[in-house]
Amino acid sequence: MQTFLIMSKPADTIHSVKGVRDLLPEECALWQRLEAEARGVFGAYCFQEIRTPVIEPMALFVRTVGGETDIVSKEMYTFLDRDDEQIALRPEATAGVVRAYIEHSLYNQGGTQKLFYMGPMFRRERPQKGRYRQFHQIGAEVIGSDHPLVDVEALEMLVLLLERTGIQQYSLLINSVGCPRCRPEYLRVLRQALESVKAGMCNDCQRRTETNPLRVLDCKVEADQSTIEKLPRIVDYLCAECQQHFEAVKSGLQQRKIAFSLAPRLVRGLDYYMRTTFEVTTGGLGAQNALLGGGRYDRLSEMLGGPPAPGFGFAIGEERLVMAAAEAGFLKPASGLDVYVAWMGEAAAQPAMELTRALRQAGLGAEAPLEPLKLKKMLGVASKSGARFSVIIGEGELASGKYQVKDMSAGSQEEVEAGRVAEYLYPRLGR
Ligand code: HAM
Repeated sequence: MQTFLIMSKPADTIHSVKGVRDLLPEECALWQRLEAEARGVFGAYCFQEIRTPVIEPMALFVRTVGGETDIVSKEMYTFLDRDDEQIALRPEATAGVVRAYIEHSLYNQGGTQKLFYMGPMFRRERPQKGRYRQFHQIGAEVIGSDHPLVDVEALEMLVLLLERTGIQQYSLLINSVGCPRCRPEYLRVLRQALESVKAGMCNDCQRRTETNPLRVLDCKVEADQSTIEKLPRIVDYLCAECQQHFEAVKSGLQQRKIAFSLAPRLVRGLDYYMRTTFEVTTGGLGAQNALLGGGRYDRLSEMLGGPPAPGFGFAIGEERLVMAAAEAGFLKPASGLDVYVAWMGEAAAQPAMELTRALRQAGLGAEAPLEPLKLKKMLGVASKSGARFSVIIGEGELASGKYQVKDMSAGSQEEVEAGRVAEYLYPRLGR
């Protein structure tokens, strides 16, 4: 009796977790096109794909992104595994890529490693337009060189990628955050400046004045912004080497006619950066206007116990890229369906299924109804699914051994020998 009661109760519907999204087929098609553009551009610059795990030891991010950053202290998804290991869902991929670089001794392969990745990241932020708890990044890292032209070339590649996705309205903001040699002096001056104003700032800023004053500059609290604007600028405290690097990056960009603006407060919310930092912002994304960000991380490998391996990279927020590209008119791909095979009468079913299979084996997108349908209905389904051609097989076609092939947009129809349909369609589909 009890079992019956449980079974008769309607089940509650289960929704997705807050801040995460399903990507339905139409959206996936657009994502795939953007990913294909990115792969094309990465390939042209000789980057190779790397896939690192979504779960990593929590210590990887505490040590590199930094325990005082918002990402690690407030937003990271962590759990204790059954063997008591502290695991984190990766909030970003750079630390994992450098971990893999060390773990697999990629430095032994000689030269610089140029790597790219695409995949989900996790941050427990307050969801809003363009900001999710599971989001996706398309990123690239160059590991093994501290040459300023590495920075310039990676930025040039980014500009090409943005061009390919149709995005034209954007700003490239750059800064230098110094190195372990010059930063201590800046931090001393910054801390001193904060002493007199920190009482009026948020609790995080007050704490970070002591623990990690650079992080005060990423504070998002509106009321603190006018105070932050007046704080000393890191670019005024760079050592000679950092200054030289920054000048070389700026002149390299100018030579390549890549427009940029200087952003002296842009320290980025991750501790591993040194020297160059940058972001690309674009209108139309709303409050979350950072399309991508990155910079140089010359000590990251050593932070993880690896050899010296200076690096530079960036990550694009894929959800934001999709939004910006859609706004810029980046077209949706055509339907995958090349041919709809319409059949009439029991005798045509088997030849139609065989033709459909042969077309698929020849690499064309083909569909046929599994049950008998009226011709009008079938042609309706064909045009709704965006089919470029329909093949019609009825009693007459079976008798003559010639099928009717209809060009759906032109409306014209031709007779084609049953065994030559794929051959006929190939050039007409631009294959
Ligand atoms: P990031 O600035 O933390 O940098 O993230 C890069 C991009 O990811 C952001 O500009 C934004 O477009 C996107 N993003 C970040 N959080 C979210 C979110 N909650 N929802 C949607 N999109 C988001 C990094 O992650 C560094 N690893 C980049 C890098 C690579 N630096 C050097 N190499």
